Amino acid sequence: MRHTLDIGRNAFSKGLPAHGVELADDLERLVQLHGAETIAAVIVEPMSGSAGVVLPPKGYLEKLRATADKYGILLIFDEVITGFGRLGTPFAVDYFGVLPDLVTTAKGLTNGAVPMGAVFASWKVYDGLMVGPENAIELFHGYTYSGHPVACAAGLATLEIYEEEGLLTRAAELAVYWQDALHSLAGLPAVVDIRNLGLVGAIELAPRDGAPGTRAYDIFVDCFNKGLLIRVTGDIIALSPPLIIEKDQIDTLVSTLADALKRAA
Ligand SMILES: Cc1ncc(COP(=O)(O)O)c(C=O)c1O
Repeated sequence: MRHTLDIGRNAFSKGLPAHGVELADDLERLVQLHGAETIAAVIVEPMSGSAGVVLPPKGYLEKLRATADKYGILLIFDEVITGFGRLGTPFAVDYFGVLPDLVTTAKGLTNGAVPMGAVFASWKVYDGLMVGPENAIELFHGYTYSGHPVACAAGLATLEIYEEEGLLTRAAELAVYWQDALHSLAGLPAVVDIRNLGLVGAIELAPRDGAPGTRAYDIFVDCFNKGLLIRVTGDIIALSPPLIIEKDQIDTLVSTLADALKRAA
């Protein structure tokens, strides 16, 4: 499907784009094209982090939920990035108030220190799988390293720290400061959009003629040499600082980035 809709990119918008909810109509179109019986599930990042921090238009997730319900399709949220406090709520499910049938998680589960993932299932899915005999294994699935003791220890320790230090909601306290700091970069060379949500941000750059990605890469190397690790996706700089970041560290991050943006002009 092709879209020419502007959903808030190149608009320096703060918060969720007000328009673009029509993007969710693609699910309805796919149902009409292929038949609902051929679609088991629709999986989305509730906030598309890996594609360069693309925020969902207002009402988009609600519309996906309604269409999935209408046709008996499961809705899955990939919360590998948004899970565990990134948006200022424990999960994006809490932030958006939309309840999927399954949630996938990983990174924040162990603070990224030890490999581990987890899937949360609704009772509907759970009950649907609990139809075997009494002696059948609950929610039967298995991997060589399922429930690995080291990963479980890291996961439990991380959850304890989240609770003790209030980290699952700390991003909400910093969100406005973070937003203002990031948007102070508007007007610097090649910056065409700035997006933010919770403690996530993106600075989208105009690509250099005939050399897409090189501007952001140069900035990545420059920042790295100055002690700041950023992530780039094409010409989009994506930022996802630690949940323990302090305001003065946000200032350092943004001023280091501002200097690098000026040098890469
Ligand atoms: C949004 C998102 N989903 C899924 C994954 C893959 O997670 P894993 O490597 O833990 O399977 C990543 C990895 O970066 C991700 O960013």
